Amino acid sequence: MSTLHFDFDRVIDRRHTGSEKWDRYAGRDIIPLWVADMDFRSPPAVIEALHERVEHGIFGYTHPPAELVEAVQASLLADYDWAVEAEWIVWLPGLVCGLNVLSLAVGEPGDQVITFIPVYPPFMSAPGLTGRTLVKVPLKLEDDRWQMDLPGLELAITPRTRLLLLCSPHNPVGRSWSREELAAIAQVAKRHNLIIGSDDIHAGLVLDEDKRHIPIATLSPETARRTITLLAPSKTYNIPGLGCSFAVISDPGLRRAFRSAKGRIVPHVNTLGYTAALAAYRHGEEWRQQLLDYLRGNRICLPQR
Ligand SMILES: Cc1ncc(COP(=O)(O)O)c(C=O)c1O
Repeated sequence: MSTLHFDFDRVIDRRHTGSEKWDRYAGRDIIPLWVADMDFRSPPAVIEALHERVEHGIFGYTHPPAELVEAVQASLLADYDWAVEAEWIVWLPGLVCGLNVLSLAVGEPGDQVITFIPVYPPFMSAPGLTGRTLVKVPLKLEDDRWQMDLPGLELAITPRTRLLLLCSPHNPVGRSWSREELAAIAQVAKRHNLIIGSDDIHAGLVLDEDKRHIPIATLSPETARRTITLLAPSKTYNIPGLGCSFAVISDPGLRRAFRSAKGRIVPHVNTLGYTAALAAYRHGEEWRQQLLDYLRGNRICLPQR
């Protein structure tokens, strides 16, 4: 039962705060809806935790607190019935970075990375930046609904294809993939011995009340073994500027390859990122539910499909 009411109607001026979203079109009559960065204040519990941490006043080198690992485990179990072991979690300062590490971790230079398009642009730049070749498979618009072209995917796969990058839910077409669709992808990956890199950053924001996000790694232990799932509290709790994300990798070999690709190039997550993530996972659920209700209300402003 809800006890608090969060105010999503408050208009907050973000000019002069170094907001990438608002500064890109500053001074022009443009509403900047180009990036997934909301104009709501983060949950009060997150803001309070940050105040408390700042008040401590010492910002030394840091590591992921054990309570945060437990809070992530509890949240993955509650939301997706996903029992994740602590050592499966690899922390990252961002998921764009995660996509690039993934591409470097799987296969060899010259191998192919396959993905459905249109897609969030870093899916398309990561392969080239890591010496791999990108193979694009267009999504299909059928009966006003975006669908995966599974025959097209299989036709495009070659012996050099090693990694399938999945955007789940899919940015930009806004599809939350069903269990059947994910199972079909898992079958293709098994048949061609592909690693699945699944970016689930928008998992916490599924608007359809009758749908539940399903991480592809939860389909079966076999699928989990070939999957690297990228997750973050950033989009859900509106803390993307604090740079705290993680990969879930159950297979020890794949995890070693991922950690080795991270090398010493990828920086650690900062202390405020961990602090915000912990508060979000521990205390953010009621705020998230009210946010979803509010966003469902806004949905009527969009063309209906
Ligand atoms: C699918 C997807 N992945 C990753 C990101 C960005 O992740 P990060 O800010 O953690 O690098 C976005 C941002 O919009 C996104 O839509």
